[in-house]
Amino acid sequence: MKVEFNETIELLKANNQNEIINLMSNVFSEKENEDIIEQIKSINLESVKKLYENATSIPEVQENKIEHIPYTDLSSLTEEEFNSYKSSGEEIIKSGKYAVITMAGGQGTRLGHKGPKGTFKINTINGEKYLFQVIVESLQKANNKYNVTIPWYVMTSEDNNDQTISFLEENNYFGYDKNKVKFFKQGKVPMVKTDGNIVVDKNKLIKEASDGNGSIYKSLKRAGLLEQMKQDSIEWIFVGGVDNVLLRIVDPILVGVTLKEGNLISSKSVVKRNPKEKVGVFCKLNGVPKVIEYTELPEQMAEEVDDNGQLKFGEVNILSHLFNIKALEKLADINLPYHTAFKKSGYLDASGNFVEVTEPNSYKFESFIFDGFSFFDNMSVLRVKREEEFAPIKNAEGNDSPETATNLYNEFHKKYDK
Ligand code: UD1
Repeated sequence: MKVEFNETIELLKANNQNEIINLMSNVFSEKENEDIIEQIKSINLESVKKLYENATSIPEVQENKIEHIPYTDLSSLTEEEFNSYKSSGEEIIKSGKYAVITMAGGQGTRLGHKGPKGTFKINTINGEKYLFQVIVESLQKANNKYNVTIPWYVMTSEDNNDQTISFLEENNYFGYDKNKVKFFKQGKVPMVKTDGNIVVDKNKLIKEASDGNGSIYKSLKRAGLLEQMKQDSIEWIFVGGVDNVLLRIVDPILVGVTLKEGNLISSKSVVKRNPKEKVGVFCKLNGVPKVIEYTELPEQMAEEVDDNGQLKFGEVNILSHLFNIKALEKLADINLPYHTAFKKSGYLDASGNFVEVTEPNSYKFESFIFDGFSFFDNMSVLRVKREEEFAPIKNAEGNDSPETATNLYNEFHKKYDK
């Protein structure tokens, strides 16, 4: 133990972690030290240090190299095009080559819901529905239509994995064949205070936070699911968020467009409501596809309009992505960049006192799924109608709230449910 202790202290020294060194040397019991040493073994302190060093440098967006991304507009397709996309897409789905992943590792902090976001409930004209239930119902509808059972993968995080699984178990997977449902956990990264010290939590362990939805690629591989998909002859994988109650999870048109355009990745977009809408926008940066997240789009760029008076950065990412298995395999071996968020986090100080905070004091590092797009020369973007496919629940009130999403859900289902 002594050797391990000394080695860990050396490692911490090399990475400027003086607070943990103090805690381990003067405050923690032998057992507490054993536990934190065990945790430190699973963390790459050097890369955390690098993340901290980069934390204050905002990614540079060079405007002169940015172009609008080419897109296909669903409402402008000819009947012939529509039918041809539909039949080629349907062929993929009917032959069992299609799977769905729901990214459900997020915390839903903005919404203020305790528990995994998929366990949030809305009250619709079709009765009360949990967000996970809305997803299962879309899958079941497609299964009935195409006479298949689409495999469903759910990405969870350390924080919500057990709760997510027990919730779906308790609700009998809302009638879905549980053998077709697989869970996999995303990764985590320590949070770091502005002074460079890693946050140690009340439980005397390092505070690790989910590492963003870009974790999906490596996490799928780590869980052995890419291999399993290949064995099961899955070729196209739809990946969506958990909180859009109009998300079209199984859409042959998206598959058909992607096949026709010869791409390995595609995504749906809607037109941005106004420059301030908190959404990522598609563009081409230095010739490759990219999404600029709302937190990183300078205000002046967000306001820019083109010659037709349309927002230049107006093609919204609605988290409706389609990947060929080859793209997922490639991305699983790539290290995506991390983005930094500034958050509040209580911490144990060097003397072992827990400090509550009221202002942001720590960096949280996240990778974004869409940063994977830039590793491909092209992707397909299918522009769809907002009122038909985008009703996200982000905030407790106002825009993108349970109320607005429920209204959109109701309008849609009144019109299309037969
Ligand atoms: C996301 C998109 C944004 C888009 C908007 C549309 C990303 C990074 N941002 O923003 O471009 O315009 O949705 O609604 O995709 N998640 C995880 N693990 C994590 C973090 C998130 O699984 O560590 C999941 C969430 O459960 C959710 C999805 O990813 O299903 C989106 O996460 P969220 O934090 O809600 O992203 P937004 O800020 O809304």
